[in-house]
Amino acid sequence: MRIRPMRPEDVGAAERLTALACGSDRPDDRRRHWSDRARHLLTTDPGGCWVADDDGGAVVAGVAIALRRDLLWVLSTYAVHPDHQGRGIGTALLDAAVGYGAGCLRGMLTSRPDPQALRRYRGAGFTLHPTMRLTGVVDRSALPAVDGVRPGTTADLDLVDSVDRRVRGATHRPDHPFVMAHSTLLVCDLLTGSGYAFLAPRGVTRLAATNRAVAQRLLWSALARTTPGSPVNVRNLTSDQEWAIDVGLVAGLRLDQDAYLALRHMRPPAPYVPSLAFG
Ligand SMILES: CC(C)(COP(=O)(O)OP(=O)(O)OC[C@H]1O[C@@H](n2cnc3c(N)ncnc32)[C@H](O)[C@@H]1OP(=O)(O)O)[C@@H](O)C(=O)NCCC(=O)NCCS
Repeated sequence: MRIRPMRPEDVGAAERLTALACGSDRPDDRRRHWSDRARHLLTTDPGGCWVADDDGGAVVAGVAIALRRDLLWVLSTYAVHPDHQGRGIGTALLDAAVGYGAGCLRGMLTSRPDPQALRRYRGAGFTLHPTMRLTGVVDRSALPAVDGVRPGTTADLDLVDSVDRRVRGATHRPDHPFVMAHSTLLVCDLLTGSGYAFLAPRGVTRLAATNRAVAQRLLWSALARTTPGSPVNVRNLTSDQEWAIDVGLVAGLRLDQDAYLALRHMRPPAPYVPSLAFG
């Protein structure tokens, strides 16, 4: 096996092997979304996208996709095909992806509770923070009246950047077009603080605010805007995000164990709901 830079023609094989490795049967729209995101990151971070192949290029056995945003390194995707695991491919791919972060001060990734992956991340110097998730159907009778939150537009992306810089030390600037195309932006900009949330059909995919009161307003507004009767989720919550857990429990959502937030040279940002793919 050789480790080489990923190319656009690898995206289909990478999508399939990540679904197999993660044991998830993605429906068509999720497959398309995964592939569009991989193509987006191939454009923004070609140096962070790596695959393992059989040298002839016929078999793509593994993939690692990393991104750099300001001085923050983020691992977005990491998997080896189940038929090829346990032979050192994952270690070599992670080395390549971590190498792309040379010069970055901090690192972040969200990990499934996969023992091999956790072993690799701890070996690479990451601190593993267990996370919780909120899932279920919002109890609409629990929704309070919330003001000060409005739908955002591209004119609000400077606010998003400044909140991101303050809360997690790095923006998501190159990802704005992709994220805006796939989710709804909510913004809160008050004298006492500001923040934003991204809402997709399956739930809140990212939220950041300069204080907990603003974060709670945003989360309540996001939950109020979900489709009545449809299941939603809010994931990747370390114990630093009790402001979110308290809202979710009042909203009738179920709290249980999720996975891990792995961080290097930083504490969990708060109040913050990290994105699965963009940190
Ligand atoms: C996590 C994952 C990518 C690791 O890939 P992998 O190829 O199995 O990892 P490796 O083979 O490098 O490491 C597994 C072990 O095999 C060992 N190994 C076996 N043969 C080896 C060889 N020829 N050379 C080097 N190491 C070898 C490694 O040393 C390692 O053992 P260690 O933990 O004691 O160091 C893979 O298990 C996976 O895809 N998991 C499911 C998907 C997932 O959960 N991804 C992460 C989600 S965020």
